[in-house]
This record gives sequence, structure tokens and C-alpha cells, in this order.
Amino acid sequence: MTKIECALGDITTVRVDAIVNAANTTLLGGFGVDGAIHGAAGPQLLAECRTLGGCETGNAKITRGYGLPAKFVIHAVGPVWRGGKHGEDRLLADAYGNSLRLAVEHGIQSIAFPAISTGAYRFPFDSAASIALSTTKDFIERNPAALERVIFISFSDRDHQAYLRLCKQYFPSSC
Ligand code: APR
Repeated sequence: MTKIECALGDITTVRVDAIVNAANTTLLGGFGVDGAIHGAAGPQLLAECRTLGGCETGNAKITRGYGLPAKFVIHAVGPVWRGGKHGEDRLLADAYGNSLRLAVEHGIQSIAFPAISTGAYRFPFDSAASIALSTTKDFIERNPAALERVIFISFSDRDHQAYLRLCKQYFPSSC
């Protein structure tokens, strides 16, 4: 049974097998959670990212975690919000689904997600969180024994409360 958790805090401090980065298509770092992860992991992370040749929106690629407590970083590229009529929902769902797929392919048992696309990419928070939760629920139903823990990390109490409220709709016995 996969344990679903919602937590408030800095994803760079979370001790799990993999943390997910809200990256851009270059995979060469940025600000927000991307900047925090690269800052905590150290320069070897960027050096490995340089070998990956970028990543298209909706997909994800994996590296080691280096100076982070997490063993791996899964760099997921979410969509920029452009009003909702440019396939943003599908692309965000794919970013979560491809991250989960990569985790299972690499034997990862515990994974922590930030709220992908809800910062600089301006995706409405509640819609993004609902997509994150529903995509994870579908994945777990199709891969019941694959993951031990999935954690949704929020960086503000407002976002955390939103996750807690929405989580009950998808995982009534968790969060
Ligand atoms: N830990 C957890 N969550 C964080 C952290 C952190 N240390 N820092 C920021 N966040 C949260 C933000 O509050 C937001 O809810 O991560 C979410 C995603 O925000 P961004 O980091 O801005 O990511 P995103 O909206 O996906 O935009 C990605 O921003 O930094 C650049 O290179 C990145 O171009 C890419 C774009």
C-alpha cells in the first residue's frame, strides 16, 4: 500500500530516494525550486545535467542527488500556464506520470514532489494540485506495489492547506 503524504517545507532537505525538480527544458538550472536543488546538490548536478541534452515539456529525466539527502533528482518539466487552452493540463499530468514511471524504473521507493508549474510557470495552484493527486492515484492503481511513499511538498502554509484539502478527495484515508 503506497503511503501518500502532504508536507510543508523545503524539498532540498527531504530524505527520500528521489526528489522531483520543477525544471525547464534546458535542465541547466534556474530559480525557485530548481535553483534551490542545484544550490543544495552542488556543481556536480549541473555537470550531469549538461550530459542529458535537455528535456521536453511533460517529460522528466533522472540524475544522482550528489550533495542532497535524496539519492536521485528527477527533473520534470511542467508547462507554462497560457490560459488553459494549450494542453497545459495534459502536459502537467505527463510531467507527474513520467516522473513516477522513471522512479519505478530505477527501483525508487520514496519520492517527493514540489508543486510543479505553480510558481514562475503560473499554473493555478488548486488545478495543478488536483492534477498531481489524480495522476498519482491513477499511477498507483495501475502499479499497486511499486512505491512505498509519495510526498507532496508545499513551500507555503497556504499551499499546504490546499494540498491537505484536495488530498482527501483522492486519498480519503491518507494525508
Ligand atoms: N521546496 C519546495 N517547494 C519549493 C521550493 C523549495 N525549496 N522553492 C519553491 N518551491 C515551490 C514554489 O512555491 C512553487 O509552489 O515550488 C513550486 C514551483 O515553483 P517554481 O520553482 O517557480 O517552478 P515552476 O513554476 O515549475 O517554474 C519552473 O522556474 O526556476 C525556474 O528553471 C525553472 O524555468 C523553470 C521555472
